[in-house]
Amino acid sequence: MPDIAFVKPALPRSGALVLPLPEAAEGAAWNDNLRRAADEATGGAVSRALEAAAFKGRKGQSCTIWAPGAGLSRVVAIGLGKPGEVTPEGAEAAGGAIAPLIVQEREALVAAEGLPPALAAGLALGLTLRAWRFDRYRTQEKEEDKPKLERVAIATADTAAAKAAWMPMRAAADGVALARELVAEPPNVLGPEEMAERCRGLEKHGVEVEVLGPKEMRKLGFGALLGVAQGSAREPRVVVMRWNGASGNGKGRRGRPVAFIGKGVTFDTGGISIKPAQGMEEMKYDMAGAGAVVGLMAALAGRRARVDAVGMVGLVENMPSGTAQRPGDVVKTYSGQTVEVINTDAEGRLVLADLLWYCQERFEPRFMVDLATLTGAIIISLGHEHAGLFSNDDELAQRIEAAGRAVGEACWRMPLGEAYDKQLKSDIADMKNVGGRPGGSITAAQFLQRFVNTKKGPMPWAHLDIAGTAWAQKDLPLAPKGPTGFGVRLLDRLVAEHYEG
Ligand code: BES
Ligand code: MN
Ligand code: ZN
Repeated sequence: MPDIAFVKPALPRSGALVLPLPEAAEGAAWNDNLRRAADEATGGAVSRALEAAAFKGRKGQSCTIWAPGAGLSRVVAIGLGKPGEVTPEGAEAAGGAIAPLIVQEREALVAAEGLPPALAAGLALGLTLRAWRFDRYRTQEKEEDKPKLERVAIATADTAAAKAAWMPMRAAADGVALARELVAEPPNVLGPEEMAERCRGLEKHGVEVEVLGPKEMRKLGFGALLGVAQGSAREPRVVVMRWNGASGNGKGRRGRPVAFIGKGVTFDTGGISIKPAQGMEEMKYDMAGAGAVVGLMAALAGRRARVDAVGMVGLVENMPSGTAQRPGDVVKTYSGQTVEVINTDAEGRLVLADLLWYCQERFEPRFMVDLATLTGAIIISLGHEHAGLFSNDDELAQRIEAAGRAVGEACWRMPLGEAYDKQLKSDIADMKNVGGRPGGSITAAQFLQRFVNTKKGPMPWAHLDIAGTAWAQKDLPLAPKGPTGFGVRLLDRLVAEHYEG
């Protein structure tokens, strides 16, 4: 991702000049100084080209003018829509639209002088997110195809205010990039142990990181998680990350933290209930919930959020083998409840069951949010446009919905209820791990809810089923095709809006 700098407006002598322009009435001077300077320096070439291209500054409109003179390799105009109606989301979208148009340049200057500083920073955020790329395993790419963008200068009248607005946004962008990178890594490279090692990397940002191995988990009684892991040659890990931004590390008094829990199945073959070969490679992204939790912890630490937060990820590989769990096995969860494993492919809920209970026992959090690529059924329900949101608490649910809307990570609330819960009845154990095809995402959530302990008092909990939103099948406004990092910005926003200070 390119370096971002905020500078005073001045025409660059080379590279790309980007002109975010509003849908302006004739002769409106809004955000127009650098445009006019560029026009003067190129003998009116910029204006002539925009006129010829019928560029009106409408939202989503763009126009590239090649080598207009004055040393510029290109001028890119991007439409902002009606002046005065530019929203943070609009600024991010414009930034995202710019990225693919300038990645072949080494340097670009974006003329954001007419935008308030926070929107200038929002533009940088959109650009940064859209310009993310994962090319660790490309060795043969042609020089001309490689992205070259190293530095983007955002010209703004108030560089100090823009920089201040950018600080937390950069932390969020870094968190998203980390989440995406973890998800993008192939499953041979990133198993549970390797991912735990990457979590350790957060220590340098001031996050406390604790890693549990199978020995500790056996001692604790994580029978459900260990059952999933037992078919793999790779050992499971649970990572507990703590960011103590409210109490300070060890010094202040620790209040009840907020808690985030992620499903980290580094590869999901289905186990003995094996998945069909077609598309199975996609199941490397079955750790996207965990990736989002790690990215979130990085974002919180990166902006020194004034909150005590716990992030917990359950890392396992779900494989078939001679030691694998069988359909029909009964496992004992950390909560003491027993589960008949009807389908070894419904493994995410088994991993989360132990973590949810453990998280409450150990931290007594203010609330818990879990993120998981939990069911294919949620893609049938909501497609790729919304994550499924399940919650036992209206306030928490509404806050999550609002935060998601604000950052372009939409969630849709789904129902819970006793009638669905009945589908989990087992003939031999306290419950079975699947509830049949009807309402598959809901019965999965019901299963999780059995591991939310409200006996000692209310425990607000929300579950985000991100199976449809964690991986983009095509380029999105703020993410190239591939891992989206869904959840990082949403939960960072949730914390910032309601749980800090
Ligand atoms: N990881 C999958 C869910 C999934 C499917 C994520 C497609 C992303 C894309 C999960 O572990 C799973 O296999 N769920 C089963 C549950 C079923 C056996 C009750 C499913 O959705 O088919
Ligand atoms: Mn599965
Ligand atoms: Zn899975």
